[in-house]
Amino acid sequence: MKFFVDTAEIDAIAELNDLGMADGVTTNPSLIMKSGRDILEVTKEIAEMIDGPVSAEVVATEAEAMIAEGRKLAKIADNIAVKVPLTWDGLKACKALSADGHMVNVTLCFSINQAILAAKAGATFISPFIGRLDDINLDGMDLIADIRQVYDNYGFETEILAASIRSVNHIAESARIGADVITAPPGVIKAMVNHPLTDKGLATFLADWEKTGQKIL
Ligand code: G3P
Repeated sequence: MKFFVDTAEIDAIAELNDLGMADGVTTNPSLIMKSGRDILEVTKEIAEMIDGPVSAEVVATEAEAMIAEGRKLAKIADNIAVKVPLTWDGLKACKALSADGHMVNVTLCFSINQAILAAKAGATFISPFIGRLDDINLDGMDLIADIRQVYDNYGFETEILAASIRSVNHIAESARIGADVITAPPGVIKAMVNHPLTDKGLATFLADWEKTGQKIL
């Protein structure tokens, strides 16, 4: 399972990258806004740091303009994945940009039918948004499972990139189902380490060690 980091914050990406836990990065207009950085500059900086795909999203809504923006973003570095929304125009842009040889991440996917269209349009990645489905009382994980089944039924090679991940449980469940990639905020990835029995066990070991009066160094 690949981990993409869902942020445009350089320091947070660097910390995970140093541990081999950043197989890629995903950004979107909201994350660029949050970073306060220029999209071209920050995307370049991220793409130089990370070996894997770095998603940068178009903001045009018509195919021609999306394609032009996508080509400009793709020029930033070889590892840019152009992100386009799951609209009819977005699918046209996906087809054209993937025909150019660019990686394309089709985002804002909320249904199995949308995921099928993206695969047929040549998407490298499909991004189903788990948390936003949970927000409206649907089960985001069901969508990941459905896409996994249908892509496997037909041998679609588009990678399932579980997005809008809000909790460590979303990551564990995505792994169980067999999502190819998860993208999550740095804090959620780091929270995977937490377990109360680890903390409790460590406290006991340290208390007992103190009683021995020994030192290792
Ligand atoms: O990966 C997509 C992500 O940035 C959206 O997450 O929490 O805004 O739904 P969220």
